[in-house]
Amino acid sequence: MKPLPQRVFLTGASSGIGRALARAYAAPGVHLGLVARRQEELEATAAGCRTHGAEIWLRSADVTDAAAINAAAADYLAWAGGVDLVIANAGGGEKETLIDADLLDRTLRLNVTGVARTFAPFLPALQPGAQLAAVASLAGYRGLPYSASYSAAKAALITYAEALRVGLRARGIRVATICPGYVRTPLTAGNPYMPWVLEADEAARVIRRGLAQGRSRIAFPWQLALLVRTLRLLPDAAYDRAVGMFVRRRHDAGTG
Ligand SMILES: NC(=O)c1ccc[n+]([C@@H]2O[C@H](COP(=O)([O-])OP(=O)(O)OC[C@H]3O[C@@H](n4cnc5c(N)ncnc54)[C@H](OP(=O)(O)O)[C@@H]3O)[C@@H](O)[C@H]2O)c1
Repeated sequence: MKPLPQRVFLTGASSGIGRALARAYAAPGVHLGLVARRQEELEATAAGCRTHGAEIWLRSADVTDAAAINAAAADYLAWAGGVDLVIANAGGGEKETLIDADLLDRTLRLNVTGVARTFAPFLPALQPGAQLAAVASLAGYRGLPYSASYSAAKAALITYAEALRVGLRARGIRVATICPGYVRTPLTAGNPYMPWVLEADEAARVIRRGLAQGRSRIAFPWQLALLVRTLRLLPDAAYDRAVGMFVRRRHDAGTG
């Protein structure tokens, strides 16, 4: 098990899993860099982390804005003197009906290009042993109806991060893909059917442990991860029937 990283840069730190991750890494001597768009919510995350003794740097920035994220990375590196772990966690999706090309475009820019924009400015500064972590989703394992853009974006991210992992291996830089199942956060508020749902703090602990173990894929909870891996093996006709049943259960639970 690696010791906990001392210089951690984290996007999407104003809410949900990102806020819980910030708390999970906050400790005396740790230099935490926190990014999201909402300054007040970032300040609230920072206040909680300072009570654990962490040094905090924060910046309101949009991960889809190259200039803003480049400037944030440069300022964080100057402040912290380097980086040990970059977690590209900012992401999400919107309710959708089939087919919405603009939503697909927005969702890809946030969940895929936004991750690349977060990692890119750190690349020259990464030393052997450093880690990049991309927060994808178990929703990226197969196409989900009514979340088509989100599941497509997370599928793209899983493949993108895998390619980076292999490409950066020779430099001693590890790339982890994080695939949570359902986690109770503002993103999932109002979703009444969330099998094996986790609280954000539990999810953050699982992620921190998996990164410390140097795992390349952190897919959890194991029950849902096993289910989606099994769904991947199904031929299309069987997958369509199985997911059709799931959609009907969600519909019966009131989400449509
Ligand atoms: N909750 C789940 O069940 C679940 C499951 C699988 C994967 N995930 C993934 O986990 C990650 C965190 O999700 P969450 O559930 O914690 O959702 P959340 O509570 O909605 O948090 C999303 C975070 O991303 C930030 N963000 C969104 N767009 C941004 C942008 N353009 N630039 C900078 N920051 C941005 C938000 O901050 P601002 O609005 O302040 O910018 C917020 O801090 C996402 O990548 C999500 O896809 C979540």
